Amino acid sequence: MCGIVGYIGSQQAQPILLDGLKRLEYRGYDSAGIAVLDGGAISVRKCAGRIDKLRQMTDASPLRGTIGIGHTRWATHGEPTDLNAHPHTDVKGDIAIVHNGIIENHAALRRHLEKQGCVFVSQTDTEVAAHLIHTLYKGDMMKALQEAIRMLSGSYALAVLCENEPDVLYCVRLGSPLVVGVGQGEMFLASDIPAILPHTRDVVILEDREIAVLRRDSVDIFDDLGNRKTPAALHVSWDAAAAEKGGYAHFMLKEIFEQPDAVANTLTAYVGVDGFKEMLPGLPSRVDFIACGTAYHSGMAGAYYFAELAQTEAAAHIASEYRYKTLFPHPGQEVVAISQSGETADTLAALRKAQEMGADTAALTNTLGSTLERTVGKSLLTYAGPEIAVASTKAYITQVETLLLMAVDLGLRKGALSQERADELLNGLSALPEKMSRVLENQTYLQQYCDRHLHEKLMFFIGRGMDASLAMEAALKLKEISYLPCEAYAAGELKHGAIALISEGTPVIALCTRENLLEKTLSNLRETKARGAETICVCPERFAQQARREADIVWTVPDTDEMLLPLLVMLPMQLLAYHMAVAQGRDVDKPRNLAKSVTVE
Ligand code: AGP
Repeated sequence: MCGIVGYIGSQQAQPILLDGLKRLEYRGYDSAGIAVLDGGAISVRKCAGRIDKLRQMTDASPLRGTIGIGHTRWATHGEPTDLNAHPHTDVKGDIAIVHNGIIENHAALRRHLEKQGCVFVSQTDTEVAAHLIHTLYKGDMMKALQEAIRMLSGSYALAVLCENEPDVLYCVRLGSPLVVGVGQGEMFLASDIPAILPHTRDVVILEDREIAVLRRDSVDIFDDLGNRKTPAALHVSWDAAAAEKGGYAHFMLKEIFEQPDAVANTLTAYVGVDGFKEMLPGLPSRVDFIACGTAYHSGMAGAYYFAELAQTEAAAHIASEYRYKTLFPHPGQEVVAISQSGETADTLAALRKAQEMGADTAALTNTLGSTLERTVGKSLLTYAGPEIAVASTKAYITQVETLLLMAVDLGLRKGALSQERADELLNGLSALPEKMSRVLENQTYLQQYCDRHLHEKLMFFIGRGMDASLAMEAALKLKEISYLPCEAYAAGELKHGAIALISEGTPVIALCTRENLLEKTLSNLRETKARGAETICVCPERFAQQARREADIVWTVPDTDEMLLPLLVMLPMQLLAYHMAVAQGRDVDKPRNLAKSVTVE
């Protein structure tokens, strides 16, 4: 949540900071600001609202200088107002900081600092850090930051400008990501890689409690005791174009259309001519997935794959629940954290809990170099490329695909799956991108449906088994970007209460990928129709005839192996959410109250 940028070099900082913030706007977008240091003085421009508003402000009153920091905010402490926007400064404005994360002991520190005469102008925890660092500063910012690390608890990524040190940009992190972009005679700082891609693809990823000292020509990294560390630069394969809209109206639509390639790339990454590259190590007796939101839904799908293809007990857990649960270790248990960003606070905390319990841990993430990726022994990547829209699409699809591959690999090694069946699945997967493209080619029927159902008050998504997890994902997608209230239910559970919500015309969408469950789900659909619902069945072509006998509307996808159908039926669901949000005039890529990466508990 929130985005940080920083620059030091010979170019004017303001346009670079604003451009970086624009690229990070998906991380938080309720207020923004920049601070630039020039001629020994720091100047700040900040406001509630989006980057475009900040840009109007800086156009009217530009900041000159070649070193600066910037921030786009997702409010945690204090409403999104001009005063609460970052950067924050000490009373005299000698230092300016931007901050991601939460300072948990901010109230106690605030009282302590007020006693020392600090006057606060905002409600934020960040201003506490600004005053604290200023109080600790006795001419050596390194020392002040080392001391601050000892005093601040919580999670943070901080970038600091100091008037007394006009040629240095400082930053420090604990539990919130920060990357340094290494250029020629210039250095960049960001909370997320896409912000620096137009300038460089060589990055240094900071570890917890590291302090980075950026000068035009150098980046020096120290631990919290002041010991110098050797920065390990990483070359990222994503290019700037991958993080741009490329002619699409929205990032979400672009990312939906990138899914056939993302699936093909992920398959190639794991399955070569002579079989699987290493996926999960060993032969776990049980697998637990921990994740949040959409990643949790992919974990649910993964649990079905592991049970059915690898004969391995598996379950998905909501990370924010798992971290506070009483757990019972199982011998041979593997805990797999799933996260697109690799920075989700609850997922990381749940992973640490699993590690404390002694479980073997692995990660499935889309982000190379993320905290998650670096916290586990074994990390598996999804090859979706950067996902910018808040609503996750291609990350979900590649997570489900990778979980399927993991289950096939384990099933083969355990002898639970025959080579013949594995080949069928892998061949099916190779043919899938073309079928996905066919589904995406025709979206007019979904557009028309959304135009007709623009004013719906409630929608239902139902399914059985794996399809119940797909129903949950379809409902989440629609909720988060169109704000349309949705219920997702295991189809058989509907009549135990929620069916009371159905009235004349309520749309009920049934996801049907399994032949053995088709009749059952259709009969649940029939029950809703008897109560006035408008019923829709989403299924492969081979079920269409049967589905048409029960449902008012049938949306089909091409036939494929039933294990692969989840990767196809989710596409019209993503497009449904997209077109509904567009028809309602919503801000598709930046829905209200949300941020792409949830780095606070
Ligand atoms: C997806 O559409 C959501 N915006 C959200 O549920 C997301 O999947 C969740 O916050 C987890 O994020 P992660 O995959 O980066 O951990």
